[in-house]
Amino acid sequence: MLESKRKVKVPEGDWTGFIGVHGHKSPYLILDDLLDTSCFDALHEEICLGLVNADHSYIGGNHKSTNIVPPEFADDEYKDFGYVIANFTDEEFEVFMRLADGRVNIDMSNWRSYTFGEDGQIELSWRQLQYLKIKYGVYFPWKGFVEFLPGDTNWNTKHLVDAQFPDHIQYSFPRTCAYLRSLPFESIGRCNVMGLEANDHGTIHRDNFEMLHNPPINDFITICPGGNKDLFLYNSEQRRKEFIPPCKAYTFNDMNYHGVAAAPYYRYSIRVDGIFTDEFREQISA
Ligand SMILES: [Fe+2]
Repeated sequence: MLESKRKVKVPEGDWTGFIGVHGHKSPYLILDDLLDTSCFDALHEEICLGLVNADHSYIGGNHKSTNIVPPEFADDEYKDFGYVIANFTDEEFEVFMRLADGRVNIDMSNWRSYTFGEDGQIELSWRQLQYLKIKYGVYFPWKGFVEFLPGDTNWNTKHLVDAQFPDHIQYSFPRTCAYLRSLPFESIGRCNVMGLEANDHGTIHRDNFEMLHNPPINDFITICPGGNKDLFLYNSEQRRKEFIPPCKAYTFNDMNYHGVAAAPYYRYSIRVDGIFTDEFREQISA
């Protein structure tokens, strides 16, 4: 049951155990009627064609070792590259580093002191991601990750820069870039395509929970022009999944555990992080 408030759909229900968003008890808001989604069919067409030629990467393969998954999933069968790398012998690590892009500035005698991959000190190359998957069976949930804006992935500062879409993204996704720029942000610091292959699930995790009492600005909008992504919020104590109803634009408090159900087809969404305009914040706040 959804209560319509100033065109924002605020889901009703018992949200005990969830962390609300923008002053609401509900952890998520549906924005389909507030934002212009009339161009989404055209955007979907452009995005699908553009993704064919885009540089993809993998993300989400270290959610366990970064301690952001619910405890009941911490030991499941999906392998995490943080633990895999930590268990490398020196010889295995040397082989692994031969697959890096160019020269990596690292003290090989002390390599265990570094962090790798997403949010880590040492970026992983495409070949290293493939090797982790092929040899060690690491599970990367988002294999369709495309960076629309380069740069800051730090959760504390990602919204502070107003980044510009690089030429190759602008060239392949012109209408989409224009649309994303038209969203109600003062600035946009982070913007990525999150694609999931058929049968893959998005690992349940939460972001920034350690900052629950001093949260960073967490203004973001997710658009799903295909309208086919099954995102859910999850309460670990109640073992309860709450699926966001079918929609094409939403925001949620990502300090709640969240995940994406497996589906028998590819699907993507685009997440845009920045700072909302005062007007938009007013429109969506409780
Ligand atoms: Fe997340």
